[in-house]
Amino acid sequence: MRYASITDRLAGLGSGKWALHLQARAMIAAGVPVIELTIGEPDMPPDRALLDEAARAMYAGRTKYSDGRGEPAVVAALVEKYRKRRADVTEENILCFPGTQTALFAVLLGLAEAGDEVLVGDPLYATYEGVIASSGAAIRTVPLRAENRFHMKAEDVEAAITPKSRVLLLNNPHNPSGAVLTRDEVFAIGEVCRRHDLWIMSDEVYEELTFGAAFFSPFDFPEFAERTVAVSSISKSHAAPGFRSGWAAGPAEFCERLLPISETMLFGGQPFIADMTAMAVSQPFDTARRMRESYSRRANIAAETLAGSNTIRPLMPEGGMFILLDVGATGLESEDFARKLLGEKHVAVMPGASFGEEARNFIRLSLTVPDDTLREAVSRIADLGQELTGAAARQA
Ligand SMILES: Cc1ncc(COP(=O)(O)O)c(C=O)c1O
Repeated sequence: MRYASITDRLAGLGSGKWALHLQARAMIAAGVPVIELTIGEPDMPPDRALLDEAARAMYAGRTKYSDGRGEPAVVAALVEKYRKRRADVTEENILCFPGTQTALFAVLLGLAEAGDEVLVGDPLYATYEGVIASSGAAIRTVPLRAENRFHMKAEDVEAAITPKSRVLLLNNPHNPSGAVLTRDEVFAIGEVCRRHDLWIMSDEVYEELTFGAAFFSPFDFPEFAERTVAVSSISKSHAAPGFRSGWAAGPAEFCERLLPISETMLFGGQPFIADMTAMAVSQPFDTARRMRESYSRRANIAAETLAGSNTIRPLMPEGGMFILLDVGATGLESEDFARKLLGEKHVAVMPGASFGEEARNFIRLSLTVPDDTLREAVSRIADLGQELTGAAARQA
């Protein structure tokens, strides 16, 4: 049978990237006690009040069709949220989507197509390649360098731009590195995009999970308002990924043009989830604060556990729910190291190579397990590092 070319473009970009994670899950199912540090799923439940609100709304009959842009209450709550960041935001700047992932997909469909290029930092979040390939545009990577703690630099963006470049996919705070860009870095990147007339699609899903560093976005600068679309959700901030509730915030004309795409795809969302999201966005909850505390404490635990290791070096995250460890000194690249780690030490991590060439010497650990479990996993990683370098020294 014949298929459309999108199926070829996306072949291998789905769960194939998570091969090691799937292997770990199969081992766990077979009874092997694997410590799983692969995916980033908040390790706390959403606030009880949010669950109650979703249930209340459902029982109150909020189970009918929804407005295509988003239910008025959640749109109003998002207007309030973004008005704190830029005073001119109105309902016309908001579109709701079932999660950041869908927002990324739909927004890019409205901004780029075959013949265009989308710029994105390397390393990159695993689904971006598929998002870009779906639009038909080509991916053009901007190297994020380990020596810059994987902060995107405006000059590297500028060097990657060609006449075909249309969009910069910016991810800040960054997955997998946990880099949080400074105000100056964000502004300089925005200036480059303005000079070259690029859109900025800004994935801000970890906005609330920074460990002290202030969060900045091109969305907040009036200078970049006409070219920036911010996408986010309650998945991380409220530990609620299963609710699939997110949004895009961008220029009014962009939202107007994108609405028919969104309506064609989704025909609206779920009103009871919209009610719960309106509550999440407009009222204070301490879920994000508790996650920030846990994840930064655990990043420190990982670093302390590695203090005696001269082969595995942590790259301290400034936000998010992961930590990168540099395993390059073991002589193995990340995929081989991660495979060995799973096979011999029963610890499952993501190889940095799954996120891009620039992270090939790193492994990514999720910080969403209890402190003791993480300590145990990191000491097994240190042991493997020791064994590998000991073996290399013996061979030499
Ligand atoms: C950078 C980044 N963007 C988007 C997502 C997906 O977010 P959502 O659950 O809102 O679709 C994730 C999930 O891990 C992520 O790390």
